[in-house]
Parts: sequence; structure tokens; C-alpha cells
Amino acid sequence: MTNSNSLRKQFLDFFEKRGHKIVRSSSLIPTDPSVLFTTAGMQQFKPYFLGEKSPYGRDVASCQKCIRTSDIESVGDATHLTFFEMLGNFSFGGYFKKEAILYAWEFLTKELSLPEDPLWITYFKGERSIPQDSESKRIWREIGVPDTKIYGFSRKENFWGPTGIEGPCGPTTEIHFDLTKKPCQKGKDCIPNCECKRFVEVWNLVFNEYYQDPQKNLKPLTQKGVDTGMGLERLLAIVNQRTDLFETDLFWPIILEIEKETGKKYQGSKTSFRIIADHIKAGAFLIAEGIYPSKEERGYIVRRLLRRSQRFARQIGLSEAGLLKLVPKIIEIYKETYPELEKKLEEIMTVMQNEFEKFAKTIERGTKEFEKLAKLSKNIIEGEKAFYLYESFGFPLELIEEMAREKGIKVDKSGFFSAQKRHKEVSRKGAQRKFGGVGIEMLEAEADKEKVTKLHTATHLLHQALREVLGEGVRQMGSDISPERLRFDFSWPSKLSEEEIRKVEEIVNQKIKEDLPVTKKKMSFEEAQKIGALAFFKEKYPERVSVYFIGDFSKEICAGPHVERTGFLGKFKIIKEESAGAGIRRIKAKLE
Ligand code: SER
Repeated sequence: MTNSNSLRKQFLDFFEKRGHKIVRSSSLIPTDPSVLFTTAGMQQFKPYFLGEKSPYGRDVASCQKCIRTSDIESVGDATHLTFFEMLGNFSFGGYFKKEAILYAWEFLTKELSLPEDPLWITYFKGERSIPQDSESKRIWREIGVPDTKIYGFSRKENFWGPTGIEGPCGPTTEIHFDLTKKPCQKGKDCIPNCECKRFVEVWNLVFNEYYQDPQKNLKPLTQKGVDTGMGLERLLAIVNQRTDLFETDLFWPIILEIEKETGKKYQGSKTSFRIIADHIKAGAFLIAEGIYPSKEERGYIVRRLLRRSQRFARQIGLSEAGLLKLVPKIIEIYKETYPELEKKLEEIMTVMQNEFEKFAKTIERGTKEFEKLAKLSKNIIEGEKAFYLYESFGFPLELIEEMAREKGIKVDKSGFFSAQKRHKEVSRKGAQRKFGGVGIEMLEAEADKEKVTKLHTATHLLHQALREVLGEGVRQMGSDISPERLRFDFSWPSKLSEEEIRKVEEIVNQKIKEDLPVTKKKMSFEEAQKIGALAFFKEKYPERVSVYFIGDFSKEICAGPHVERTGFLGKFKIIKEESAGAGIRRIKAKLE
């Protein structure tokens, strides 16, 4: 059996030997604010395709951690995953179609010695104003791939990008692997992209020739680029002559642990085993990057992954404690490649445990409630009722839909969203009485405005001080300021020790003593992220933002207002440190 570590290395070595600089995987949270997660290797290189000078040189290769959430519901079969790694080679204005195709062919057939016979090719056959990619087709023929294995497809299949709302994109040529060599009932028409599971896409070679603007207009790029992507998990299975991605060393230790914990066999309950293994893995990687379960965007995905695995775990008799035991197995698999994961072992387990405990309290009652509702409803669960399951028992909408699907009924989604909107309106009205950063204009007394402004600056100092004492896992999860005190919620898995609290206070007071200037600069959101300005990531930021600098101690995206110098603040004191939900701590502090 070829193992994943050696395959990853073989790919990177192959391209390094051919003049490529090897670049580390970037974070799962991209800098591009219009996308939720990193879904492809090219994302960290997006600017270099557009002409910005690459600090790594012209040709690079990487193995990138990716999360794709569009088909969480399809996970459970032999090939769908939410977390996966993408191997890729890239060129920013250097080599183009011929070299990219030759490299790919050489790697698969020579370096890995895969037989040529099961390798089939697709290319872009042209659509409306975009011409056919006849060059790729010609190169494949020259290599010796017979015409009977080369097929043209349209934009849906063979044109890639952009990621986010705009960016580089272009025609693709793909290498597919024939797993069974047996056509389905379609006979001769059973070719790559057939719905039957005969073929699996192995490698996608993208030729970036266009720029798509937000209005979806295509303009030719002056500098052409190559962006290729190949799923490590799929390649590993193929190299080992497997059709099931879970039967490789990237999953098998997790599967064995589930077998050990439940006494059940993978063979008998494949779907549940796969969902659990994939979701816990994806959850672990996301938590390691500071994304904790919550109701918002990224955090909500983590919640969905964890709660869905919790539900499937119960079906095969795997307890929450058993689920947690999978984390060290996952870390064992990846620690060599992603050492950051191992450092976060405790954080991952604590956050998961908190989340599991929360849902464990309601999952049974909620499931019973669901059964009742499903019985009463004819074909559809009313939106209001689904919202009740969501709000009172913590069932993500998608999970309710899945449970309904299993019973052959539907959920009224638009009804759900209107119920949610009504609920939000009521809570918003309640929240208007408080404020955090904004809302200062609602205060009448000047003295109160001044107190709030000072506490606001103190909040930035506190945020940075927490990061210095606890580390970069600290992220703002909420803030609420009244003239009397500040309240700051942040991601952190465990109670702060007295020593930690004292240190945080000390740093803030030290910075007040230094009487640092507070200055503001306007810049693009992208630039702000580049210089490492802290952000409250739950918020959607406009394109141009203000960044407040406190000396060179803190920089944070913020609408203000702030005091001019920290010397105005007085003495900072933490009055309370407590939990504010799973993986979230709350600090209340005042200025004396
Ligand atoms: N960007 C392309 C993909 O994700 C190739 O890397 O498939």
C-alpha cells in the first residue's frame, strides 16, 4: 500500500525537481472575504494570476487543505468529502498548456506507473463567444491518447472559476480514471461525467486565460496562467486500487476506532461510519483554525458537521465520548504534514465536547418532537414547526430536512426563514437597548459618551492583550459596552486562570501607562487583512474600512470612536471572567 505521506511527497518532489517552488498550504480561511472557505489550491495565488509579482517565483506547487460544503449531504458514499487535500502545480505567466499536460501525464504514467488504459480525457468544446480549446485536444492526441478516449464538454464541465465574485478563470482539461471498465446501460455513451460511478475525475488542469468581473463579463488576461488540482484522497485510492476513499490510510485508523468503540463493522454501516469520519475530521481542522460552532456562517458549518455526526453516531451506538476519541486518531494521521493540528489537540477536544454536550441535552427530546411532527404533517413540516425544532432543540435546518427526507417528507423552508426573520426582529428590538461600538449616538449625556468611548479603546487593548497571553486562537465573538463596563466575548476553550487574568490586566495597564497614540487609517478590507488588523469576523465589512492603531501594540478594523491617547483611560480592571457558551469566554471589565 502506498501511504498518503509518501504520495504527497512524491508529488511535491516531482515538481520541485522540475523547477517549482513548494509553497505550504494556506489557511482554510481565505483572505478573499467573498468566500467562506478555501476550496482550491489556487486561492492563495489569486493575485499572482492577475499580474501581481509572486514572492515564490513563477512556477509553484502545493498541497492545500480544502473544505467544500456544497454537498455535505452527499457525504456518506465512497467518494464525497468535506475536508480534502488538493495537490496542484501552478504557473503565473510561465509555462502553459503543453508543459502542464505533459507534466500531468508523466507524473501519472511514469512517476506513479499508473496504466494508460483507464485514463480518459475531457476538454472544453467551446460555448457561445468562448472558443473551443483545440490546442489541449491536439496535445493529448500527440501524446498518443486515442480519440475514443478524448471528449469535449461545455462550460458546466470544462471551464473553471472564478472563486468568489470575480477573478481569473478559463477552460479546463481533465483526466478521469475508469474504475470499472464496464459501461452502464448507456453503452457507448458511457463516458467521463456519466452519472453512473464508472469514472472518477482525477486531475483538473485549468488554463487561466480570462478575467471574470462581478457582472460576469469575461475579458482576456494579458498574462496566462496554469492552475491544476488533484484530490490527494482520490489519487491515493486509485494508486492502491481502491474505489472507496475511506479504505486508505487517510481514514482507516478512524474507521477502526469506530469499530472498536461500537463493536460494529464498517461493512454493515458504511454510510454512518463515513459521515462520522469525514465530519469529525473537517470539524477538527476548522476548530484548529479558530472556527468554533456558532449560529453564524463559518461557525454554523462546524455546528452542522458536529451535530450531523452526533446524530449518525447515535444510530450506530457511538457515544459522544467515543466521538472524541477519534480526534487523536485524526491528529496521528496528519501531524507530520499539519503540525498546527497537534498543537490544538486540547482546544479541539474541549470545543467539540462542549458542543456535543449542548446538543446531547436536546437531541433526544428534539428527535421525539420531530417524530411527533412528522406523524402529524402530511407531506410537509410547516416552517414555524421546523423553526421550533431549530430554536428550542438546536437542530440545524439541514439536519431537519435530512431527517424529513428519510421519512419521505419535506420541510417548508421559506416558512422556516420567515419564522426566523420574525424571531430576529423581536431580538433586535431587545438588543437595541444595548450597544457595542456603534450606537453611541443613542446616549444622551456627554459624560456617558466619554465613558463609552474610553471603554471602547480599552476593549481593543484587552483584545490584543488576550492574544498575547493566550495566543492567536483568541477571536472576538461579541462586544457590548455600557457607560459602566465593557463586556467582551471571545473564543477560548477553558476558564482563564487567575494568573492569566492578572497578566492580561497588567498588559492593558502597561499600555495605558505608555500613553500610546490612537490613530485611524482608511484602507481596503483586503489591505487591512494583509497587515493583520484584527476583525470581528462575524461581521460583513464594506470594501473600505477604518483601521485603528494603538501605538504599534494593536491594530483593529473598527468604526470607532476612540480616545486620542491611551493615557486618558485610567486604571483597567477585570471584574468577571465566565463562560458565554461552548468554547466562548466572557470578560467584564471597567475603568477606575
Ligand atoms: N482550481 C481548480 C479546481 O479546484 C484546479 O486547481 O479544480
